Amino acid sequence: MSEHHTIQLGVNVDHIATLRQARGTTYPDPMQAADIARKAGADGVTVHLREDRRHIQDHDVYSIRGNVNLPMNLEMAATVEMLKIAQTVKPHECCIVPEKRAELTTEGGLNVLKNMVELGDYIGALQEHSIKVSLFIDPDEEQIQASKVLGVEIVELHTGGYADCGGHPLEAELERLRKGAALAHSLGIQVNAGHGLHYQNVAQIAQIPELVCLNIGHSIVARAAMTGFYEAVFAMKQIMIGARLDSEGEGT
Ligand code: PXP
Repeated sequence: MSEHHTIQLGVNVDHIATLRQARGTTYPDPMQAADIARKAGADGVTVHLREDRRHIQDHDVYSIRGNVNLPMNLEMAATVEMLKIAQTVKPHECCIVPEKRAELTTEGGLNVLKNMVELGDYIGALQEHSIKVSLFIDPDEEQIQASKVLGVEIVELHTGGYADCGGHPLEAELERLRKGAALAHSLGIQVNAGHGLHYQNVAQIAQIPELVCLNIGHSIVARAAMTGFYEAVFAMKQIMIGARLDSEGEGT
């Protein structure tokens, strides 16, 4: 069986943290979600430690790294602060993503071509710590070639253009991804993909033979909220009824 017959799922737990941060509670815990993902067959866990800490917090990164038996993909902007954290956490891989407009291409991937010098030094500093480096890029030839020049182990192709276009341009976006995946693979780079993938649009992406891992977050968290909703309401009502019966029992 060729390597192409297996496809991996990296589960992004950022939006479990989004729900927690909305209330400043300690739950739901992204570490617990990551461990459930592991039991369900996930091949990796992804967290994006954003500069503004809007969802994942530093302690989440450390607790998931220390307690969840899955390879960690730490997504981050190419900043000095994040480099220090990555060198301490030592995730299996770091995916460098744009957080500022200046780092973006038109579609939203990292503009590797325009940031060759800075990125080169940055990538080297991660690789020195035995961390594999992934660049989140649009599926464009020049970005892929530039990634090759920089010597990264992985590129993650941005599927947002595919996921966000309804109808007609879909085939063109798919073709872009297919070509990009084939090119990166032919250059000896591992090819992952992600962003905006959900239960209705993932199949065609999963069929691209060169893709090794799909990183998916929002749709999984959204579905979990719906599939778990019945149980959650039911459990709450049971506690309420039980408590009322108990208090009535005490009164008699
Ligand atoms: N890949 C990268 C590089 C990301 O930044 C994200 C999160 O925005 C994802 C994949 C997952 O995207 P989504 O949450 O839309 O599944």
